[in-house]
Amino acid sequence: MNNIDQHPHVPILLEEVVSKIITRKDGVYIDCTVGFGGHSFSILKEIDSNGMLFGIDYDPYALEYSHNRLSDLNKPFELIHSNYANLNELCKRKDINDVDGILFDLGISSYQVDSGYKGISYRKDGKLNMALDPKCTTDAQKILHDYNEEELANMIYYNSEEKNSRKIAKSIKIKISQNTIETNLDLVEAVKEVTPMRFLNKTLSRVFQALRIEVNNEFENIYKSIIDSISILRPGGRLAVISFHSIEDRIVKNVFRSYARGDSAYIGRMGFQVKKNITKKVKILTKKPVTPDRDEIGYNKRARSAKLRIVERLAIA
Ligand SMILES: C[S@@+](CC[C@H](N)C(=O)[O-])C[C@H]1O[C@@H](n2cnc3c(N)ncnc32)[C@H](O)[C@@H]1O
Repeated sequence: MNNIDQHPHVPILLEEVVSKIITRKDGVYIDCTVGFGGHSFSILKEIDSNGMLFGIDYDPYALEYSHNRLSDLNKPFELIHSNYANLNELCKRKDINDVDGILFDLGISSYQVDSGYKGISYRKDGKLNMALDPKCTTDAQKILHDYNEEELANMIYYNSEEKNSRKIAKSIKIKISQNTIETNLDLVEAVKEVTPMRFLNKTLSRVFQALRIEVNNEFENIYKSIIDSISILRPGGRLAVISFHSIEDRIVKNVFRSYARGDSAYIGRMGFQVKKNITKKVKILTKKPVTPDRDEIGYNKRARSAKLRIVERLAIA
C-alpha cells in the first residue's frame, strides 16, 4: 500500500474493502465516492491494465487531487464529476454494465470538514451554504428560512436523532425572524442558547449534520444509488458500503435485506417509495457489519463509527 498518512484523508477499512471487492484483476470497478483517492488508489494498484476503474465525486478539488494521485499508477481509470445519484445515467452514457465491484464510502472527507468546505463545519465561520453538489437547487440558508418551526424540528430529529430538536428549531426561527442567521457561527449561537454546555459539541455536530443531509438529499441519494448499483453488478460482482451514521447504516442494511430475501417490506418501513416486485438479487457477505479494530481507531478517530456491509450479486437474478 502507499503511504496513506501523507494525504488529506485517511481511508477507512482499506484492506477489508480492497480484498473483498476485487474478484477479478481485469474487472470493472466504480468508486462512487472517490474523495482523495485512498480506496481508489489501492483498487487501481491491485487490478491489471485490462481492468478499469471509474471514480465519481461532486467535489472538483478532491477529483483533481485524486487524478494526480492515481495517474502515478499508469493504469486505466476515469474520474467523473457528478453526483452518484446519477449512477444509472452515467453508466448508460458510458456503456458501463456488468460491473465487478462498487464502493460507497459515505459522507464527507476529513479535509472537507476541517477546511470548513461550503460551511459544513460548526468550527469554522462562513456563509451558511452546505450545498456540496454544484447542481444542488437549495442551500442551508434557504432551508432554515423556508421550513416552519415544526418542519425544522422534524427534519433535525429525523436526520440526526437529536432529542432537543424542538427547542433548537424554536431558537433558530426566533433568530431568523430577527434576521440574525447568516453564517455558521450565527447558527451555533442559536443552538448554544438552548443547549447545556456539556452537550454542546455533540448537539452542534448533529444539527450541522442534519442540515447538510437535508440540503444534499443524502438519504434519498444513498437509497436510490445502492439499488441502482445492485442492478449494474455482474453475477458474482460485489457492492461495499461504508457508513458512519446509524440512519445511513439502517438504509444500507434494509436495502440489502430486501434484495437478499426478495421482500420489499424492509425498505417499505423506512418511508421510501418502494418497487413492489423486488426479487432476490444478492447474497449478504457481512451478516454483521465489519468495523475497524482498535489499532485503526487509534490512528484515525473518524473510523470509530464506521460500518462496512457487502453484498454479492447472485448468478440467477
Ligand atoms: C468519505 S469521503 C471518501 C474518501 C475516499 N474513500 C478516500 O479514501 O479518499 C466521501 C466523498 O464522497 C463525496 N460525496 C458524498 N456524497 C456524494 C454524492 N452524492 N455524489 C458524489 N460524491 C459524493 C464527497 O465529496 C467526498 O469526497
